[in-house]
Amino acid sequence: MKTVRNRTTLITGGSRSGKSKFALSLGEKVNGKRIYLATAEALDEEMRERIQSHQKERGGRWNTIEEPIKLAETLAEQEGKSDVVIIDCLTLWTCNLMMKDKDRKSILCMAKELIAQCKKINGHIFLITNEVGAGIVPEGKLSRDFRDLAGEANQMMAESFDEVVHMVSGIPTYIKKSLWEDSASEKKETHEFSQSKKEGLYEAIYKRRDVRQFSSKPVPPNTLSKVLQAAHHAGSVGFMQPWNFIVVDDSDVKAKVAENFMQSNLKAKKRFKGERLSLYESLKLEGITEAPINICVTCDSFRKGPHVLGRNTMPETDVYSACCAIQNLWLAARVEGLAVGWVSILSPERLKIDLGIPEHIKVVAYLCVGYTDSFYEKPLLELSGWERRSSLEELVFYNNWEGKPSGFRMDFSMEVNSKRVH
Ligand SMILES: Cc1cc2nc3c(=O)[nH]c(=O)nc-3n(C[C@H](O)[C@H](O)[C@H](O)COP(=O)(O)O)c2cc1C
Repeated sequence: MKTVRNRTTLITGGSRSGKSKFALSLGEKVNGKRIYLATAEALDEEMRERIQSHQKERGGRWNTIEEPIKLAETLAEQEGKSDVVIIDCLTLWTCNLMMKDKDRKSILCMAKELIAQCKKINGHIFLITNEVGAGIVPEGKLSRDFRDLAGEANQMMAESFDEVVHMVSGIPTYIKKSLWEDSASEKKETHEFSQSKKEGLYEAIYKRRDVRQFSSKPVPPNTLSKVLQAAHHAGSVGFMQPWNFIVVDDSDVKAKVAENFMQSNLKAKKRFKGERLSLYESLKLEGITEAPINICVTCDSFRKGPHVLGRNTMPETDVYSACCAIQNLWLAARVEGLAVGWVSILSPERLKIDLGIPEHIKVVAYLCVGYTDSFYEKPLLELSGWERRSSLEELVFYNNWEGKPSGFRMDFSMEVNSKRVH
């Protein structure tokens, strides 16, 4: 894996496909000095206007340097002075060189020098280019030579650069993705994850659902083992790891647990009356027999002896630890496309008998696991009108119970992952 801070991105595409806009948006995420190295020369009024409008768009966030020919040298001068450089663009530079009567060989040689300099600099280089070869063959020789040279230069850059993005109607499509992309973009000083990794985690969190409808598609053991590994990597008090996972695939065992649910549910629903009871009865609250796999998660309060670091003062932290493992399991299952439904309307005593669980072991959760045709967009209890998500703002206190913010305060209305969080 590459450890240097250099990173090179080639952005290609047709004219007005959003190349510069995309480079600017990525470049502005980088904290530090930003250079915009423009190869365009204001040779006529139209070009002057175009350049001015681009400069206005960039505002004071970028330091613009205009250099139509000596790109490698100009870049070398920026060593240590810039954290991100956009070179706009390779095609125009090739054209400028041709206009200065440079032949193919020397232009490609200069392109090689440019690559070497791009790779040397301590920072992120975005090189913009154009796909000029997609149309009909130009009539004039000069145009044909230019088209071929631009294509050759693009190929050289694409081969050497860490990543290549093709812009299509404003949408970036990564046609070459650097293997170390995520790690390299991580901010080592702050230990912050890269944007794509963050998005993945938040997506798993927001798209995790309690599911009670399962398809018969079997769960591959290798996938479940990954999910249980994730569970096993949860935090636990005194590193006690008090959990066990009883994986149930036997339909006779499931039938016993389903019967347990039926009996427990008959008692549970007695707590509700009228409309609430009707609504309760319409809810599907388990998927025990449907789900190909059930998992009973337990907690052994005696694991690692009588004095577990951190648990003496709060004995219930052993069960909390098992819950941390279950949350890991739930999220890992979601990213694997597996659905999980937690069933607590069960008699733990009955469950212990049916699963042969020893007396001293606590039952923490009974989970149904399998594939589903759809993950609900919101909690089923919300969709059915049973309950709503509370306002987080009202649940957060500052400095004391019900305390209001004085200095430090948070805004919970912000967007997460470019989406309003429900
Ligand atoms: C400890 C625990 C016990 C639960 N027990 C049941 C249950 O017995 N039956 C059920 O249908 N859902 C059960 N759920 C699922 C919740 O209803 C669900 O998490 C909640 O409505 C929020 O929905 P979401 O998980 O899809 O975000 C349980 C969840 C937890 C965390």
